[in-house]
This record gives sequence, C-alpha cells and structure tokens, in this order.
Amino acid sequence: MKNSGTDIQIDQRNGRRLVLFPLPLQGHVNPMIQLANILHSKGFSITIIHTTFNSPDPSKYPHFTFHFIQEELTETEASTADIIALVSLLNIKCVAPFRDCLSKLLSDVSEDPIACLISDAIFHFTTAVSKGLKLPRIVLRTGGASSFRIFTALPFLKEKGYLPTQESQLENPVVELPPLKVKDLPVVNSRDPEAVYDLIVSMTDGTEASSGVIWNTFEELEQSALAALRHDFSIPVFPIGPFHNRFPSSSSSLLSQDQSSISWLDKRAPKSVVYVSFGSVAALNETQFLEVAWGLANSKQPFLWVVRPGLVRGAEWLEPLPNGFLEDLNGRAHIVKWAPQSEVLAHPAVGAFWTHNGWNSTLESICEGVPMICMPCFTDQMANARYVSDVWRVGMQLENGLEREKIESTINRLLVDEEGEAIRKRILSLKEKAKLCLSQGGSSCQSLDSLVSQILSLEPIIFQTQ
Ligand code: UDX
Repeated sequence: MKNSGTDIQIDQRNGRRLVLFPLPLQGHVNPMIQLANILHSKGFSITIIHTTFNSPDPSKYPHFTFHFIQEELTETEASTADIIALVSLLNIKCVAPFRDCLSKLLSDVSEDPIACLISDAIFHFTTAVSKGLKLPRIVLRTGGASSFRIFTALPFLKEKGYLPTQESQLENPVVELPPLKVKDLPVVNSRDPEAVYDLIVSMTDGTEASSGVIWNTFEELEQSALAALRHDFSIPVFPIGPFHNRFPSSSSSLLSQDQSSISWLDKRAPKSVVYVSFGSVAALNETQFLEVAWGLANSKQPFLWVVRPGLVRGAEWLEPLPNGFLEDLNGRAHIVKWAPQSEVLAHPAVGAFWTHNGWNSTLESICEGVPMICMPCFTDQMANARYVSDVWRVGMQLENGLEREKIESTINRLLVDEEGEAIRKRILSLKEKAKLCLSQGGSSCQSLDSLVSQILSLEPIIFQTQ
C-alpha cells in the first residue's frame, strides 16, 4: 500500500507551524491533506482544524495535530442534496467555533509559532477571522485556475446579461471567454440561485484579500489562466500540483474504497475498461441512471462503475436497475459503492474515464494518461469539461442530453476508433508534462520553493492573552 506521508523523507524542522482548514467535502479534504503532507515534508509542523461533520480519521496522520470544532449542523442541514445551502451554512456556523479554536492555538506558547492559516478558498469567512487575529492567511483553491478565472468574471458576465443563463442561449458562445459556451458557466441547482452567485463572489473576494493562492495545478496545463490571474490579482500565485503525484489521496477517503475493483481489473485486457464515476456530490434522476446503465451495457465494452449510495435521487442504491441486469452482462461489468480511484486510473486495464469532471478527477485522469468522457454536473465541472474537450483535447463531451445511443457511440469512438487514439496520444503527452513539472527544477517544484520562502518570510505573530 502507498503511504500517507509518514515515511516520506522530510526536510529539517523549520520551527514554524501552519494551521490548515479544509472544507469538509471529499473533493476538498483530499487536496488539503495532500498539501499538509507536502508542507510537512518541507519542515513545517501541521495543525488541522476540522469540522466534526465529514471528519477524516486522525489516527491515519500521527504526524499532524487535529482540532475538531462543533459546527452543530442538524441531520437535515448536513446533506449534500443542496450543496450551496450546505456550504453557505458552514460559512456561518463555523465562524464562532473556528475563531475560538484559532485564538486558543495562537496563545499556546508550548508549540512552534504559527506562521499563517491555510484555508480552503470556499471558507471565505476566514478572511475576517484571520484579519481580526492579525494572522496572515493563504488560501488553497482546490479547483483549476481556468475555472477560477471564470468565477472572477461573474460580476462582469452578469452585467453583460449572460447570467442568469437563459435556456434559449445555452449553446451561444461567451465571446469574451473563448471557448466557453453559455451552458459552461457555473450554475448549480439550488433552492436559492442568488446564493450560488453570492458564494462564488465571496470566495473570489476572499481569495484576492489573501496573502497568496495555492493551486492544485501546474503551469504547463493552465499557463494562460495563471498568467491572467497573476496579472489581475496583486497577490502571489503558487501552482504546485498535481498534489496526488506527490502524496496519494487514498488515505483521506471518507468512504471505504472497495478493493475488489482492482482484482476485477486484473482480469481484463489492457485499455479495455471504461471506468465510470461521478464523484462525491453529483446525483442523477432515475431516468438518467437507466440511460447510463443501458448505454454502458449496449456499448459491449467492459465497465467498472461507482454507484455511490445517494447517486440516484430517491433510491438507496441499485434498486432502479432491471432484474438480472448485471447477471446478463456475464462478468463484463463490476459495480462498487466507492473505488480506490487513483489506483483504478493507474491500472493498465483502464482505457477511458467517464467522469463528472470534478477537478481532482480531471487531474487524476490527466496524470494517468486516461482519456475522458465528460459529463459535467455543476459549478467548475462545466468549465473543466470544456477545457478537456476543446482546449487540451483529451476527452469527448456527452452533450445535449443523456441518451443510451449517444453513450454507446461515444464509448466506442473513444475506446475503439482512431479518433480515440489521437486523444490518447495527446493525454499521454500531458501526463509526461505532469511528471516533469514535479521533477527537480520543474515548474511546480520551483513554485513550491517560492511558497516555502514566502511562508518563512511571514512574521510569526505572538498572541497577547488578556
Ligand atoms: C467537488 C466538486 O464536485 C468539484 O466540482 C470540485 O472541483 C471539487 O469538489 P467531487 O464531486 O467529489 O468534488 O469530485 P472530485 O473533485 O473529482 O473529487 C473526488 C475525489 O474522490 C477524487 O480525489 C477521487 O479520487 C476520489 N474518489 C472518487 C474516490 O476515491 N473513489 C471513488 O469511487 C470516486
């Protein structure tokens, strides 16, 4: 098994402590824990403040100190069904317990002095808290730089009339931001559409007010977006990814990963399997779920499908599938509740990844050179998918409805046709770049050195207790 960071060679301790505060969702916890390991290997002591909701297992990280805050979400509030409502509420309920916890940590003179807070960018309330405590704050943006640029442009796009998006204009280009179409703008199904806009604007404002932004990306992948952000923001920008190529994410999985995925893949031919997963939050209705199932079955290709409990709205797990669906496929399909995704993507049997294009999944696929079928569901996923299909050209989008015939033909175009071969070549070349940026002198290594210097140049504060 790969390690979680405890047996990695580390630099000498540098006498500074960092306080990290992840957003408690899988796609955010993974990169923050990876970042914690990266910075620990650079000599920093690591303290993680975490909500009680969705907390990782601290016993997996004996080299970190954990403090849990009581955000007191009710069972109904702690649901990801309306992700914007959940995240907006966390930004309110965490304020007092987070501030109390951070104040206590700052006044503890028995530990290394705290150099700064590293907060998930979506926890925008930490801007005011750190300012009040006079503690420098760096943010981790767990999504890509290209999608973030679109977030920063939202007020302008609203003024120009692109938002709220109109059904009749979804296929129109966003002329100011090629190659985006109106349908690629970050929309989310929420009880309160204004809350989506407010959350994104608070996140970008909070990022701009920070002492620097860390990105889980690399220069060669998102050069133009990073250049634009450097130009627009007056703060340093540190693209130090891909994180999981330095430290695997499997240890921070909030669900248990079904290892039968790997033994099943072991029996399949190289590059023959479609791996299907829509991440930790996205959900489908029953009709969509059945189209996915029949599209996969009719493609005649083997598939490994992650059906997370909760993926199908209103169902516990696989009940909507017709009786005998799996049996009739004679071992060509394997369904699990949650997979060891990094290992799956690295497996030689996997030939394509049908993904919702969460940023972690997108980056993990690039790093393993696995071409993508893109089915974005909300926020940054739409822009990620547009970049995958139209800019990097390392995948195909399933656009304009989810129908079994279209699914079947897209899978075969990618796995069997020459078109798919060209895509595979391009993603393998990106995979090489993702490796090179982490080698000595590579762009992400240089950025990490700059980040470490920037943190060490911050004056650690000595907190005065009354
Ligand atoms: C969320 C948002 O949906 C996404 O838009 C944003 O970019 C990040 O936060 P999520 O939906 O969970 O993320 O997707 P993603 O970013 O892809 O993260 C999922 C993580 O879970 C990945 O690291 C992936 O390796 C892991 N995973 C996924 C598993 O370990 N097992 C699985 O079966 C599926």
